[in-house]
Amino acid sequence: MIAPWQITRAADRLRGGGVVAFPTETVYGLGANAFDLDAIAKVFQLKGRPRFDPLIVHVEDVDRVPQLVGYFSEQAQRLARAFWPGSLSMVLPKHRRVPDLVTAGLPTVAVRVPDHNLARQLIEQAATAIAAPSANRFGGVSPTTADHVRAEFGERIDLVLDGGPCHRGVESTVISLVDQPTLLRPGGIAVEAIEQVLGPLAIAAPSNDSRSLPSPGMLRRHYAPRTPMRLVDVVDPGLRQRPELRVGLLLFVPRRDQDLDGFAAVEVLSSRADLAEAAANLFAALRRLDAASLDSIIAERVPDQGLGRAINDRLMRGSVV
Ligand code: TXA
Ligand code: MG
Repeated sequence: MIAPWQITRAADRLRGGGVVAFPTETVYGLGANAFDLDAIAKVFQLKGRPRFDPLIVHVEDVDRVPQLVGYFSEQAQRLARAFWPGSLSMVLPKHRRVPDLVTAGLPTVAVRVPDHNLARQLIEQAATAIAAPSANRFGGVSPTTADHVRAEFGERIDLVLDGGPCHRGVESTVISLVDQPTLLRPGGIAVEAIEQVLGPLAIAAPSNDSRSLPSPGMLRRHYAPRTPMRLVDVVDPGLRQRPELRVGLLLFVPRRDQDLDGFAAVEVLSSRADLAEAAANLFAALRRLDAASLDSIIAERVPDQGLGRAINDRLMRGSVV
């Protein structure tokens, strides 16, 4: 449990220009005052993140959004009513007071109200908007526990607020509302749920050329373990052909033991074929496999619906070479 004084101390750090890692319902964020250029520069530097990849700005309440955006359209407000607080980030025209460093020079800003009491109390006490990418080194697997954050950064960050494991487990869904509503990243709110509110979304395609991307973070390879990973439709025992190699398996649901003979490590995302449970377990399972000295990981695709789209997206981008 986090004591109130710990939140106060973290908020003080943020106000004083520090960088604080904090839990949200999706993943842990590496937070800094969105209006403090030095603090934001520290976030980019710690993550090893290229300056062309903009940050999501977090506020504790939808009332604060007009301070960040130039235009809060009716459509965006409808989404906010339906999904905030929650795992949805909206890309909107930015207010000129939002620093270019935060938005990587784009005329837009991504905003989100996280569905996590500790996060919202922290932002409220810091009395400013908090820019926060996921608290991992650029391109790697996002952290869903405080230990994951410490494993990424050690002593190099001022403070990690430990709120336990993140219950959603995949990052927010990112939607652009600048022109027609466009899905930039599937995530913790199902695309189907958003389409029920807005109608069909356009879908932006990932690319490896950062200049042609609708969202700079859409590079194909991302969310990747260090161990080479391969994504398959169905795991069958024949996939493990060379007995001298240590191969790990990432499964959606449990299966019979004899099918798994010969694999060096096996992770199961959900005991009951539940995509929300699978999402909550995804990054911790990937990190355990990555720490198991494997030659390779074989990951099985999950059903491509609801949160399954976010899981498959991360697995696909984590397995691009
Ligand atoms: O769940 C989440 O979204 C977590 C927690 C901490 O809130 N944050 C997170 O941040 O995943 P990050 O930086 O790892 O991913 C943000 C994504 C990137 O793909 C980035 O390119 C995109 O959002 N993004 C941010 N601002 C944007 C903008 N103005 N236009 C288009 N894409 C933007
Ligand atoms: Mg990230």
